[in-house]
Amino acid sequence: MEPFGYRDERLHCEAVAASKLVAAYGTPLYVYSAGAIRGRLSELAGAFATLDPLLAYSVKSNGNLAVLRLVAAAGAGADIVSGGELYRARLAGIPGERIVFSGVGKTVSELAMALREGIYAFNVESAGELEALNELAIALGVRARMALRVNPDVLSPTPHHYTATGHSTTKFGIPFEEARALYRHAGGLPGIDVRGIDVHIGSQILDVAPFQRAVQRVVELVADLRADGHRLEFLDVGGGFGVSYTGEPGLVPRDFADALVPLVRPTGLRIVLEPGRYVSGPAGLLLARVLYVKRMAGKTYVITDAGMNDLLRPSHYASYHRILPEHHDPGRPEVVVDVVGPICESGDFLALDRRMPHPEPGELLAVDTAGAYGFSMASTYNARPRAAEVLVDGAQHHLVRRRETYADLVLPEVELA
Ligand SMILES: Cc1ncc(COP(=O)(O)O)c(C=O)c1O
Repeated sequence: MEPFGYRDERLHCEAVAASKLVAAYGTPLYVYSAGAIRGRLSELAGAFATLDPLLAYSVKSNGNLAVLRLVAAAGAGADIVSGGELYRARLAGIPGERIVFSGVGKTVSELAMALREGIYAFNVESAGELEALNELAIALGVRARMALRVNPDVLSPTPHHYTATGHSTTKFGIPFEEARALYRHAGGLPGIDVRGIDVHIGSQILDVAPFQRAVQRVVELVADLRADGHRLEFLDVGGGFGVSYTGEPGLVPRDFADALVPLVRPTGLRIVLEPGRYVSGPAGLLLARVLYVKRMAGKTYVITDAGMNDLLRPSHYASYHRILPEHHDPGRPEVVVDVVGPICESGDFLALDRRMPHPEPGELLAVDTAGAYGFSMASTYNARPRAAEVLVDGAQHHLVRRRETYADLVLPEVELA
């Protein structure tokens, strides 16, 4: 089921008209489809069913509690990268034993918090982190279940180099050649319980080949680690599964599974997947209103009430998002425009040189595939309160984060007497 589409020429999310949502909640407005989130989780889980998958949804992509509650209800877990994400995941009812903790810079207090929650695994990214984890676990009288995140030195074809993380010249993971020795060391630490191996090569990858290359390398290492006496239980292949932004085919779970299952199954290991964008990206869009249309130096600017503070991806990663009119009118002439926001930066845009039906002031536009790294990367830059978020489930709609107010903007500030 497609979560968004036109009925009688008007854009709908599931059974609810976008215009109705805007009338109730205003713009800019993030709209998420519960059905799409459930469906995408179950497709992935189904494709990997033979490998007893732990689907650890990547909270960073969209950490709204309502989204996380859907994840929890689907029996999935969470991939977290901070104490704040752990807090969110637990609050939404995701049990500790379904949580994996990734990230290069976990603080001592974050490690302690996760140890107390009894999480499934720490994906350790440095020798220093391993020592800190061991000491804390001893102090707390527990053993930390862990994997090393190995850097497979695989170049992944991500649309922007900021989101490629599997090559040797990034800050991520343990150099492949050093992993075996560090595992040996970890195996001798009393606070450490070596359980798995982890890899994550980047984000928005549409080709299965780099995943295969990375997993192949890791599987070779698994044999060495077993020879060294480690009793491994899981193989975490990370996230990064690509979705369709431009109309190109997204990654199909069945194809992805066909490529990876034959590599993993002989190891007998359980698979952990950390999908973020795959689950939340196509399940969300951002509704904005056109404020003004102006022409300057031969260009047409469509100025909307959503800007880079609401959706950073076009500006930060030069990302492409389809822009859909709320009212689909096939007779409307097309123009080439820049769709820009109100922020005082030339980098504040949602789309550049985009051919689209001529937008009129006052009309609604939808930025497609904005459910991942949309609200979660939003800021209050230019003192703009952050947008509201709505979850649609069939014909029901629920406000799941109210629009921020001006008072919210200054709430944490401490005024000097
Ligand atoms: C360790 C790790 N796992 C999973 C993800 C999720 O990636 P995606 O949203 O592309 O699936 C990321 C994203 O950066 C990550 O760093």
